[in-house]
Amino acid sequence: MSLALVSRLLPSLTRLQTRVALISGGEPLLNPEWAQIAQLLKQSGLHVWLLTSGLSLAKHAVRASQLFDAITVSLDGANAETYAAIRGLNAFEKVCAGIAATARTGVPVGVRVTVQAANYRQLPACIEVARQLGAHQVSFVAVDVANPHAFGRLDGVVPDLALQLRDLPEFEQILCRLERDYVEDFRSGFIAESPRRLRRMHQYFSAICGAGAFPPTRCNAPEFSAVIDAKGRVNPCFFIAGPTEAQLQQELAAVLNGGSMLALRQDIRAGARSECATCVCSLWREAGSRTTQDLLLHRKANA
Ligand SMILES: C[S@@+](CC[C@H](N)C(=O)[O-])C[C@H]1O[C@@H](n2cnc3c(N)ncnc32)[C@H](O)[C@@H]1O
Ligand code: SF4
Repeated sequence: MSLALVSRLLPSLTRLQTRVALISGGEPLLNPEWAQIAQLLKQSGLHVWLLTSGLSLAKHAVRASQLFDAITVSLDGANAETYAAIRGLNAFEKVCAGIAATARTGVPVGVRVTVQAANYRQLPACIEVARQLGAHQVSFVAVDVANPHAFGRLDGVVPDLALQLRDLPEFEQILCRLERDYVEDFRSGFIAESPRRLRRMHQYFSAICGAGAFPPTRCNAPEFSAVIDAKGRVNPCFFIAGPTEAQLQQELAAVLNGGSMLALRQDIRAGARSECATCVCSLWREAGSRTTQDLLLHRKANA
C-alpha cells in the first residue's frame, strides 16, 4: 500500500463517513510509509488501528502511540519456545517488550492469539502474559485452515496447524477452566470474546476433524466494512475476494455499490458463499453497535 494510493482514497473515505481504518498486512510496520499513511488518515479524522506482529514495536512504540488509536499485537504463545515454533523466529521477548513499551504510552494495546495445536494448552498463560505486559485486552481466534486464499496463501491450506481429535477433550477442559477461573476478565471485556464465542473454536476444530458440523455463522461484516488490499482491490471481507473489476481506479463508493459487488453481498447475505460456513472470523453487529468505540478494543462500560 502506498501513501499515494491512500491519498487518492481519502475523499471517498470522508464521503462514506468512514470512522475506522485498520491497517494490517503483511506486516504494516515494514511499509516505509507506514507513519505518513497513518498520519494522513488521522489528520482526516479517521480513527486508525494497527494490527502488527510487534517485531519492531519496541523501536516504534512512541511514534506508533501518537499515530494509532489502538494497536493489536499478535502473540501466538506464552513463552519463547512456543512463539518461535509458531512464528518461525526467536522473538518472544522482543515482541513482549514492544507490547509493554506501547502499553506504557497509554494507547490501548490488544494481544491477539491465533489458537492452534501448538499453543492451545497455553490459553490461560497467554491471558496472564497479556495482563503482565499491561495490555488492554486479549483476544483469541481459531487458526483458519479451511479458506483457500486468505492469509496470502498461494499453495492451499496447512491443516496440521489445527487441533486433532486427540486434542479436543483437553481443549474442552481448558475452556471450562477459563470459564471458571476468569469470570471477571470475561465480564470486564479484558478477554474480548464471550465464553460462548470461545466454545465455537472447539466446534470449529471438531468440524475440521470430521467429528461434527461447523458452528453456524452469522455475519454482516461486509455491510459495514470492506478490505482493500495493497494493490487496491476491494473485497467484501478478508476471506472472500472482491469481483475482479473492484479496483480503486474507480471511486470507492462506486466500487462498493457496483453491480457485481452488490450481487456478491447479496450472495453473502443469502448464505450462498461457502467461505462463510467455515469462517473463523464471522462478525455480526447491529446497526446501533457500529460505533468507533465498538470497533477499537472496546472494554465493557460497566467494567
Ligand atoms: C495476517 S496477520 C497481519 C498483521 C501482522 N503481520 C501480524 O502478524 O499480526 C493478521 C492476523 O492474522 C493472524 N493469522 C495468520 N494466519 C492465520 C490463520 N491461518 N488463521 C487465523 N488467523 C491467522 C495473525 O496471527 C494475525 O493476528
Ligand atoms: S462469515 Fe467470514 S467469509 Fe463470510 S462474510 Fe463474514 S467474514 Fe466474510
